Amino acid sequence: MKIIMLGAPGAGKGTQAKMIAEKYRVPHVSTGDIFRANIKNGTELGMEAKKYMDQGLLVPDELTVKILLDRVAQPDCADGYVLDGFPRNIPQAEVLDKALSELGEKIDYAIDVDVPDENIVRRMSGRRACLSCGATYHIEHIPPKKEGICDKCGQPLVLRDDDKPETVQNRLKVYHEQTQPLIDFYTAKGVLRTVDGTKSMEDVFASIVEILG
Ligand code: AP5
Ligand code: MG
Repeated sequence: MKIIMLGAPGAGKGTQAKMIAEKYRVPHVSTGDIFRANIKNGTELGMEAKKYMDQGLLVPDELTVKILLDRVAQPDCADGYVLDGFPRNIPQAEVLDKALSELGEKIDYAIDVDVPDENIVRRMSGRRACLSCGATYHIEHIPPKKEGICDKCGQPLVLRDDDKPETVQNRLKVYHEQTQPLIDFYTAKGVLRTVDGTKSMEDVFASIVEILG
């Protein structure tokens, strides 16, 4: 099963993608997590990506597309995957579509986690992320057991550099201009499904399970 998560920054794509990955036993592939791991490890790719991420801009397609195509060509992706944060614009979607059709494959579902802009800034300022294992928390809605510490790996939790309110506004602008057109793209392919992302994490997941079966 090949699934794409769509939705604004902070809509809960990562939260739901991790739950899907666990239940359906497919890898969770997040381009944002791949970039953040590279930033943490000080790689050249990480340094380059950080310049864009800190401004809320998209990392150029030349860097992003190859990383994603290499990742989904790994053996663990043979039976499917859940993509979180890719594609992010029409050119990326077209490249993915072409790569899949050359293999006689296609995306099964594009799930749009719908959350209005008003809710987004509040969610982002409360988010805390673990840069070691990628787990995400929210200080009010989904707190860790011990404040500031990741439940899964015990490492410290941080506010992401791009979660400052001014950067969040930029990310929302970029989302509306470049990513939202993907809703029409996947509607036309007959694979778009929309879930109400303002509900609780469990209720959103229940709606997704209803779709995926
Ligand atoms: P990326 O890491 O993909 O960030 P994003 O799309 O901005 O989305 P987020 O990760 O911020 O939000 P999310 O939807 O995953 O929400 P989450 O589950 O964490 O990308 C970062 C940057 O990398 C981009 O800006 C760009 O520069 C670059 N990049 C990445 N991919 C790229 C690509 N393909 N091309 C070019 N550039 C790329 O939830 C948010 C918060 O809300 C959390 O605190 C969570 O605990 C909480 N929460 C979740 N669900 C609920 C709920 N139902 N109720 C209450 N709280 C909830
Ligand atoms: Mg995410």
